[in-house]
Amino acid sequence: MQFIDLAAQQRRLRQEIDAAVARVLDHGRYIMGPEVAELEAALADFVGEGDVVSCASGTDALVMALLVRSVGPGDAVFVPSFTFAATAEAVALLGATPVFVDIDAVTYDLCPDSLEAAVADLPAGLRPAGVIPVDLFGLPADYSAIGEVCERHGLWMIADAAQSFGASVEDVRVGCFAPLTTTSFFPAKPLGCYGDGGAVVAQDPEDAAVLRSVRVHGSGSDKYDNVRLGINGRLDTLQAAILLPKLAIFADELDRRAEVARRYDDGLRDLVVTPVVPDGVRSAWAQYTVRIPDRDRVAEALAAAGIPTAIYYPLPLHRQQAYRHHPVGAGGMAVSDVAATEVLSLPMHPYLGSDDQGAVIDALRTAVEGLR
Ligand SMILES: Cc1ncc(COP(=O)(O)O)c(C=O)c1O
Repeated sequence: MQFIDLAAQQRRLRQEIDAAVARVLDHGRYIMGPEVAELEAALADFVGEGDVVSCASGTDALVMALLVRSVGPGDAVFVPSFTFAATAEAVALLGATPVFVDIDAVTYDLCPDSLEAAVADLPAGLRPAGVIPVDLFGLPADYSAIGEVCERHGLWMIADAAQSFGASVEDVRVGCFAPLTTTSFFPAKPLGCYGDGGAVVAQDPEDAAVLRSVRVHGSGSDKYDNVRLGINGRLDTLQAAILLPKLAIFADELDRRAEVARRYDDGLRDLVVTPVVPDGVRSAWAQYTVRIPDRDRVAEALAAAGIPTAIYYPLPLHRQQAYRHHPVGAGGMAVSDVAATEVLSLPMHPYLGSDDQGAVIDALRTAVEGLR
């Protein structure tokens, strides 16, 4: 059994993907070929509001969004500690200071009260600049509560939706909840390409124009006219071509992921702490993550039974060598610290059949009950 079975999707789409790749090889426009603009228009249509600027990875998407907000030394950018490193890395790379904020114990997303506490008690010498909520495991953060904190303190918001593209709140898609939203098309993400890829959704056309400049070394009227600092952040034409047929079936795949999650809920809610999705919210189900006090022994037992699992994340960023010198918000990190010892992600992808899923549920039950 695979943790994420990318081959199952490929079997469904192989002809379309082969044809899309062949078209690129035929026209030969490997950089910024026609598929890039086509994909951006299709992604914008899917999101429903705003412009989409594609780029080379979810990490570049964060760097580009932060360049649009001109962050630099002295700027405090509030980020969750319980996330993939890129969220804080992009901030630190630009010379700004990531300030770690705890997560909510139920949703694993940034806790608005911890954010408020971190802003109120910032170390001297830092100015509060912005916040990057992360939609962990595919579940949108509490954007309305975080937005209120931003308004009170004059912070900008960049949503890190690397894991949640396709999720929604009251039928409004992720991408619409912050002026800038970044996402990733890493192969294992809900919408993944066959290499690295990413995008920024911009609600303000002026931000979109700056993103397009930043994506190509800060270009102005042409690529040898440089008006600001930027990066080489373009999405390959081949990846755009591969994403187009994948996007065409993405809504169906999101429904399948929701169905897999529902089957896990039914099979596991009496056994372990299962994910909680607030009313009106649809997760993109990048991961199905349960909580088990005896996590490591359960994971070992599952591995012995041939069931792959993963731990996102074993060490919160505020404890990592590269980040532990950065400030921790006044609310502390108690929830992140405990979550890191208890979370366990189970196989999750749109093509997980009920027999395989039944085997996961049975093995988890045997493991958990065996350790009681
Ligand atoms: C929360 C989060 N932010 C950012 C990224 C970075 O995306 P990429 O790997 O495409 O650079 C990831 C990817 O794993 C992620 O999970």
